[in-house]
Order: sequence, then C-alpha cells, then structure tokens
Amino acid sequence: MASSSLYVILIFLSFSPFILISESQKPSKSNRFVLPVHQDKKTNLYVADIYKRTPPLQVPFVVDLNGRVLWVTCNQNYLSSTYRAPRCHSTQCARARTQYCHTCSSKARPGCHNNTCALKSVNPVTRLTAISELAQDVLSIQSTQGSNTGPLIRIPQFLFACESSSLLQRGLPGNVQGVAGLGNSPISLPIQLASHFGFAGFAPTFALCLAPKGVVFFGDSPYHMLPDVDISRPLRYTPLIISPQGEYYIEVRSIKINNKDVPINKTVLSINKRGFGGTKLSTINPYTVLEHSIFKAVTHFFTNELSGIPQVKPVKPFGVCFGSKSFKSTRFGPGVPNIDLVLHNQHVTWRIFGANSMVQAAPGVSCLAFVDGGVNTRASIVIGAYQMENNLVQFDLARSRLGFSSSLLHFKTSCNNFNFTAIP
Ligand SMILES: *[C@@H]1O[C@H](CO)[C@@H](O)[C@H](O)[C@H]1NC(C)=O
Ligand SMILES: *[C@@H]1O[C@H](CO)[C@@H](O)[C@H](O)[C@H]1NC(C)=O
Ligand SMILES: *[C@@H]1O[C@H](CO)[C@@H](O)[C@H](O)[C@H]1NC(C)=O
Repeated sequence: MASSSLYVILIFLSFSPFILISESQKPSKSNRFVLPVHQDKKTNLYVADIYKRTPPLQVPFVVDLNGRVLWVTCNQNYLSSTYRAPRCHSTQCARARTQYCHTCSSKARPGCHNNTCALKSVNPVTRLTAISELAQDVLSIQSTQGSNTGPLIRIPQFLFACESSSLLQRGLPGNVQGVAGLGNSPISLPIQLASHFGFAGFAPTFALCLAPKGVVFFGDSPYHMLPDVDISRPLRYTPLIISPQGEYYIEVRSIKINNKDVPINKTVLSINKRGFGGTKLSTINPYTVLEHSIFKAVTHFFTNELSGIPQVKPVKPFGVCFGSKSFKSTRFGPGVPNIDLVLHNQHVTWRIFGANSMVQAAPGVSCLAFVDGGVNTRASIVIGAYQMENNLVQFDLARSRLGFSSSLLHFKTSCNNFNFTAIP
C-alpha cells in the first residue's frame, strides 16, 4: 500500500496552508455542506450552481456521480484574481496523480500555460475527452446543520481541470460551464472537501437527494427535509464497490417483481474478470439501463403481472407503455407491481415503487422507466437518476457502504423539501 501512504503524506503537505482558517471555519464534527441541484428539462441531467473564483461567481455544472474531477471551460473570459496553475511535478500535480507536463502555444491565459500539468476531462454524455490544465482556485460552498443553510465556506486551493477545447458542445445543457465529478478519485469534489477538513472533522460521505429541486449533502447525516423529517433514519446499507476508475457499484443478486423472482442469468449480473457486468449507479443516465437479456426478462415479467391491462404503442426510449388511466394513483405513484433489487443478501432489497418505475412519457401514456442497453454492456445494470429520485442515496466512502432510504414519499416528504432559509 505504498501509494496510499504516499497519498496521505501528500494530503498532509497540502494542508499546511489551510491551518490558518478563521475561527468560524474551524473543522468540527458538524461540518456539513449542501449543494442545491436542479434538473434540466431538456436533457434530464442534474445541474448545480457552484461558487467559484474571486470575486465569487455562481457557475453551473452538470453533476456526474462517477466523474473523476471538476472541470470547467476556460474558453470564455475566466476572470479571477486567485487562479493559479501549479507547476508540473509539484505536490498539487502529485495529488491529482498527473506526471504529464503541459505546454500551450497560444497566448497565456487560464487553461494555457507552459510547464503546468495536464489532466483528462471527459464529457460524460458524449464520452469525448480533452487534455486540460490542472488549475487551482477558490471554491465556496454553503454550510448546513442538516437543515437550513449557514455561512458560505471557502476552500481556497481547490484543484480542478481547466478545459479550453469544445467539450461542452454536445450532450450537455446549453448554459453549463463544466462537470462536477463526485467519483472516488483523488481530486473529486467530495474527496477534496474531506481532505480540506482533514477527514477527522468531516466524514468522506455524501448523499444524493435528487428531484427537480433537489440537493446533494456533503458530510455525515442527519439530513432534514420539511416538515422536520430526518430522511437518513433509518437507512439500509449494502457494500459499496469502487471500480478502478473510481466509479460506484453495488451488488444486485436478483430482481423480484410482485415478490416473485424474475428469471435472470446470474452470470450476467455479476462482475467478471474483465470488469464487465455488475450494477453501477449514475446521474448521467436519466433512466436505469438494463443489459438486453435482463431488460427482456424484466419487461416480460412485469407485463405478465399486469396481463389484464392493455399496452399502448411504446414511446421511445421505453419498451413497454400503458394508458395512464389504467392505474389508480397511490401515495407511491401509479399502483403497479413493486420491483425489488435484491442486494448482497436476500434480506436487503431496494424497493422501487410506481413513482420511480413508471414515467409519463407522453400525454396519457405511462411507460416502464427502464431502457434496453443492448448486449455486451460494460455494466449489466446502470441505476439511473429517475430511479434515485426522492430517495436518499448515501455514499459512505470511509466505511465503503451505500445507504439508501427507498422512497421518501413514505415519510410524506420529498427531495424538493430542503429548507434553504439561511440561519446566520
Ligand atoms: C510556451 O513556450 C513556447 C516555446 O518557448 C512559446 O512559443 C509559447 O508562447 C509559450 N506559451 C505560453 C502560454 O507562454
Ligand atoms: C449465462 O450467461 C453466460 C455469460 O453470458 C453464458 O456463458 C451462459 O451460457 C448463460 N447461461 C444460461 C443458462 O443461459
Ligand atoms: C425554514 O426555516 C426557518 C428558520 O428556521 C423557519 O423560520 C421556517 O419556518 C422554515 N420554513 C418552513 C416552511 O417550515
């Protein structure tokens, strides 16, 4: 584990400038942050406005659960008095795990310097990549006590990638300026927040609560929603598996519909030696993607359980649709059979109710909100954003576990209900 102890030393070295933080920003057990996110109507992606630069400016980013870095386009006028580009072979470059020395032939500006280090930025929708300059600038984030917001906390030397080609051009909402990666990687947003506060005073934990006006929490629970519900109690847990790329996987052993086993080839569900298979979570896929044989088995079983109900012509990208009036509405959405993901042991299941399994795809048409990923997919199941909506999904990186609440509609609340009223 030589590399991990080196990492600890590097983190320690990089803390030294932060020891002079003001009294109000002293690390404490209750350090917690909240980042409002909203859903872009056209792409269904989640966007967070993050305070960056000096003077601070709110910059919109797409939230990528599995992204390795926070990258921003530096094409437009990047104005900030605190922008720095660390020299190659500096401790910052080592923290970002980059050895590569960057050169730039055009006029010097943010994103274009000689002898800085380079990082790869990825557009998570198109998968196009670009070489970017490793940069450092202020990032500010709203503190919270679990409900309401407190002062903005400055992270003075936040590392990110400054991208100056045309990665933004396709797939992402028009106004966004970059992508905020939450992956388990050395300079992702949750890891830098945790290392800034020295891990001891801040849990390397974050939680998604997705909804049209949802939130991401950084730091440990409780997390409160109106009317005064701690949505982190009780959570169920399953081991969190981190891929070599820092992506988040869990083990799904089987799928049940109406409490009955769906016949699925178990070999397809598990991760094989080449790293294929398994179940990944993603905020970039709007709907859960199933490998073709799993998709066929699930849709077949689901429609059999609803055999009295006529299907209507499917609306793309879905495979199975019904008239919306066919289902009575319940507290948990349309009254359809529950879908259970059976996790590492048979007593731990993630139950998907109608609100997360059916989507209104056209006026009067409700579709099963799962899509066919085809054959030879990297992951067999990619749990998408729609299935995580109004569920609390907590990534506890210290204990390598995923906590999940199932539908918050149980608690008569939703992820839209964070009280953003500031308490000074
Ligand atoms: C980098 O170095 C090259 C060669 O010396 C020079 O032409 C170029 O202008 C420099 N770039 C910057 C951004 O200073
Ligand atoms: C299950 O899937 C594996 C891998 O695709 C395949 O080799 C095997 O034949 C399948 N088993 C059955 C019973 O279909
Ligand atoms: C939100 O929090 C403020 C401050 O504690 C409180 O006065 C207000 O009543 C809360 N809003 C709601 C809708 O409960």
